[in-house]
Amino acid sequence: MDHTLWYKDAVFYEVYVRAFHDSDNDGHGDLRGMIEKLDYVKELGVDCLWLLPIYPSPLKDDGYDISNFYDVHPTYGTLDDFEELLEEAHKRGLRVIMDLVLNHTSNMHPWFRAARANRNSIFRDYYVWSDSSLKYRDARIIFLDTEESNWGWDKKSEQYYWHRFYASQPDLNYDNPAVQAEMLKVMSFWLDLGVDGFRADAVPYLFEREGTGCENLPETHAYLKEIRKFINERYPGRILLAEANQWPEDIIPYFGDGGDEFHMGFHFPIMPRIFMSIRKEHRTQLVWIMGRTPALTETNQWCMFLRNHDELTLEMVTEEEREWMWQEFAPDPRMRLNLGIRRRLAPLLDNDHRKIMLANSLLFSLPGSPVIYYGDEIGMGDNISLHDRNGVRTPMQWDDSSSAGFSKAPSQSVYLPIIDDDTYGRKQVNVKSQQDNPYSLWHSVRNMIHARKKYPAFGRGDFQWIDCENEAIAAYVRTYEDQVIYVFNNMSASEHVISIPMQDIPGPLTDILTGKDYYIQDQTLTLKMSPRQYLWLV
Ligand code: GLC
Repeated sequence: MDHTLWYKDAVFYEVYVRAFHDSDNDGHGDLRGMIEKLDYVKELGVDCLWLLPIYPSPLKDDGYDISNFYDVHPTYGTLDDFEELLEEAHKRGLRVIMDLVLNHTSNMHPWFRAARANRNSIFRDYYVWSDSSLKYRDARIIFLDTEESNWGWDKKSEQYYWHRFYASQPDLNYDNPAVQAEMLKVMSFWLDLGVDGFRADAVPYLFEREGTGCENLPETHAYLKEIRKFINERYPGRILLAEANQWPEDIIPYFGDGGDEFHMGFHFPIMPRIFMSIRKEHRTQLVWIMGRTPALTETNQWCMFLRNHDELTLEMVTEEEREWMWQEFAPDPRMRLNLGIRRRLAPLLDNDHRKIMLANSLLFSLPGSPVIYYGDEIGMGDNISLHDRNGVRTPMQWDDSSSAGFSKAPSQSVYLPIIDDDTYGRKQVNVKSQQDNPYSLWHSVRNMIHARKKYPAFGRGDFQWIDCENEAIAAYVRTYEDQVIYVFNNMSASEHVISIPMQDIPGPLTDILTGKDYYIQDQTLTLKMSPRQYLWLV
């Protein structure tokens, strides 16, 4: 096996450092806290951490608004701590990728301060300015609930500046070669420290051109190819993961031509359809989207996820589907944000262990490498009374003590309140009690991860639907070299008996997850599937 393709076999774990573990009791999670929890992550079966931005930042967008690309946010620790984190992670065979925010900076970044202070500053051209707010009118607004325009007025220098996200996040001007060079320097800095790659934030928006939606432009792809070339030449083996919230046909170009752009890309369109198909209790939506998902080349990989730190975005569904998703999954208007749903995995799936594990069965067995969002492995809840996406970014619940084992700081100094309701509070949901209970969600997730790791077919194999008349069953086969795995998911809340024609094979098929045997008789595999049951047969 080719081990340079490690990312194809890897299970990823997304961590918001501020939320994970507070080692110095100031109420904010930090890098040393992360180090203390590396054994936990390792035990779960994770191969690679993805850290949300850890750079100095006014935290108007939880660190996606960077004010210095070359340091660590003071409450998270120091560069030395970061180096130690890398060392400790690598010692345990864990890799670490971090967010790379190319598209914009904070308005507190010295470049922007200099740019707005003086129109003749060399930094003026680091950003996109205009006398008119009517330029690039075809570009959509992403943060619909807060922003009215992609142009912000700068009183000081009396021009508009371009921003695709919050007004406090001015877009960098990639037509300026100096900006292009700066960002390569930033990458080098962190790669030299030893990071294993980047999750590149918001990549479709780097360039602007009149008469276009200012997304996925050829100029953007050309620059991203420069980045990949730079990595290939100077840092082979490190990876680039694209955040491009687009339809499959628009994501494909981010994988480049013969591996000259991203190694990996998130599969945004399949994510809402996993929830849809579980709610509708049939596979139709999954079949439809897989039909539009081309196979990738050998060095590329989809990144699969159920939830992340943002709202569950409904950009990649039809308007009708969006309305339906909102009705079904976000009945309270406070659960909605922009074009999405700001809730966590467990509450979205009614805190139902079987539904959650069915979703995980799809996440871990469909083509791609899975990402787990911190806390979802124990079924953490959300808090819709908190602003913006904060409700899904609350402190990790380690135990049932008053601070949930997150911090010893007085509760009023913890950066966000710990979830405290009757269903998802620290007493009901925490790592410690789930580790102690072999029937807990944590154990189910851990078993699934460890089972998956024994079979490269999940990360590397071909995908094909199994012909099954019953639409409540999502059945497919994953094949890699001589490994063949038949996956059956009963999407519905009722029992179904299915018969699949199959060549007789001498021994039984064995469920990787439970060790139970299933025999083929008279060239037929007959399965009685209980509600929401999943089988991974080898
Ligand atoms: C990405 C991030 C999101 C952030 C935005 C702007 O979409 O996932 O959290 O707000 O970029 O940087």
